[in-house]
Amino acid sequence: MNHNLSDKKPIQQTDKQTNNEVSMSINGQAITAPDSLSVIQALWHAGYPRVKGVGCLDGVCGSCRVMVRRSGSPEIKMELGCQLLIEEDMDVFFSVFDTPSQHHYDLSKISTSWDVQTEFHKIFSEAQKCRHCGGCNKACPKGIDVEEGVALAVKGRFRESGELFVDCVMCNLCMTGCPEYIDPNHVGLFARRVTGYFHTRPSNLINQLEAIRTGELDVDTHSGMEESL
Ligand code: SF4
Ligand code: SF4
Ligand code: FES
Repeated sequence: MNHNLSDKKPIQQTDKQTNNEVSMSINGQAITAPDSLSVIQALWHAGYPRVKGVGCLDGVCGSCRVMVRRSGSPEIKMELGCQLLIEEDMDVFFSVFDTPSQHHYDLSKISTSWDVQTEFHKIFSEAQKCRHCGGCNKACPKGIDVEEGVALAVKGRFRESGELFVDCVMCNLCMTGCPEYIDPNHVGLFARRVTGYFHTRPSNLINQLEAIRTGELDVDTHSGMEESL
């Protein structure tokens, strides 16, 4: 884990508000900043130009995972630093680690949807060893029922499994919490991919294409294109 705020010295302090300022710590450094700021904004506000573990700033990329201990609580929680507003006496540590997945596959080599479950168990052979320990659920900052997602995939219910992982930001925290090295988020990704690859046929699109094919629907695919060129 990298406890450094930045390789560089702090940049100049920005204007500080006098209202609702809170004192807390990030990677062991005392920070004072308005409580309207996220962990990452507070860091920048305090003059630390951190970019490691920072990505989209919008809760999407999963880069900014942090461990959080709130005032008066011994519990450590995992959160996303760009989404978490700072609080008085909060301790935050950035979790920077590499988590390469051990699972590799090529969907184009799975010839039909009948083979998906067999291939899944070859690729994710650890998945059926799930201990139902709940570690992945506890680690997930998005509140996903990761354990259930893995269980559904093990049963071959990939569409339902994939739906549970829709909000996954691939922060990899569930990987770190899994004693069986299942890579639960990659199970979810696999479930979503096979659902899209083998099963998703948007009926309205198919109907439209069929109507175009039969001539029932006449669409000029060239109009507008010339104008935009
Ligand atoms: S399922 Fe795993 S990778 Fe996805 S958001 Fe939750 S902890 Fe992060
Ligand atoms: S952490 Fe791993 S073993 Fe535990 S419930 Fe989640 S997937 Fe199963
Ligand atoms: S920076 Fe992308 S989720 Fe926080």
